[in-house]
Amino acid sequence: MVEQTVQIVSNERDTDLYFCLVVNAPQIAPLVQPGQFAHVRIPPLREALLRRPFSIFQVSGSTLSILYKNIGKGTDVLSRMRPGEELSMIGPLGHGFTVPPPAGETPLLVAGGYGMAALYLLAQRSPQKGIVFVGGRRRVDILCEAEFRALGWEVRVTTEDGSHGEPGLVTHALLAELKRREPGRKLFACGPTPMLKAVGRLAAEFKLPAELSLDEHMGCGIGVCLTCVVPIKAGDGWEYQRTCTDGPVFDSRQVAWEADE
Ligand SMILES: Cc1cc2nc3c(=O)[nH]c(=O)nc-3n(C[C@H](O)[C@H](O)[C@H](O)COP(=O)(O)OP(=O)(O)OC[C@H]3O[C@@H](n4cnc5c(N)ncnc54)[C@H](O)[C@@H]3O)c2cc1C
Ligand code: FES
Repeated sequence: MVEQTVQIVSNERDTDLYFCLVVNAPQIAPLVQPGQFAHVRIPPLREALLRRPFSIFQVSGSTLSILYKNIGKGTDVLSRMRPGEELSMIGPLGHGFTVPPPAGETPLLVAGGYGMAALYLLAQRSPQKGIVFVGGRRRVDILCEAEFRALGWEVRVTTEDGSHGEPGLVTHALLAELKRREPGRKLFACGPTPMLKAVGRLAAEFKLPAELSLDEHMGCGIGVCLTCVVPIKAGDGWEYQRTCTDGPVFDSRQVAWEADE
């Protein structure tokens, strides 16, 4: 983990509310593992001390990129920053996805919205290619379809309004595929909590291993403030663990969703 002042290389609108930020981060970029995130301080923001967590999308030499949705104060200010301006970044942070070993299980990736960003490096570094299921409300929420296809992965798209791909939820498309009951598969998912719960239920029903990247609000990002705790099974019960340091990726069998309901 490194704290570094990074310079913006580019910060372009991708689709609608989504932007792709590329920064020069020579100390952080070479260390990144799939599913890890960066905690970003945005100096022009009035409450600049509060950092925002973003998955690390792509890495190339000394640069790394982040795919973000302009959703609030911080991301709005970020979206107006220009090449040459500086940010403070701590990273890479967190416990990421397990890259499947050669001849290991076939990966099925499931993403909702900007969850695609967390899964790209996994797809790039996995020796096995599989299927990426990507879902969103509308066509503009479908990110990186071309990038995953360029890696040689099959991409199945669903939109809730039917404006692109199959109409419906991404987990419906996943269910249809799981009903084929092909052996030796593993699920990896990142997206909104209801989607992650549904993927966890399907993994249990079809007796498949699954890793889920949880999306919790964060404070410090380094394990101190406990803003990000989630209930994780331990012994006969459960205990709180920190999404920022113990996660964000957890084995789906370990997540005690019922404790939060
Ligand atoms: C491990 C991790 C990885 C993430 N990766 C990405 C990514 O790759 N791309 C991306 O666009 N976003 C990602 N996020 C979410 C991102 O951190 C928030 O969208 C961002 O902090 C919002 O900052 P803001 O100041 O613009 O919004 P604020 O003004 O602080 O809040 C605006 C709205 O966003 C909601 N919000 C804030 N944080 C989250 C969150 N973690 N999840 C859901 N809603 C939130 C608030 O409740 C509020 O409704 C990730 C979050 C985590 C925990
Ligand atoms: S964000 Fe502070 S402990 Fe996780």
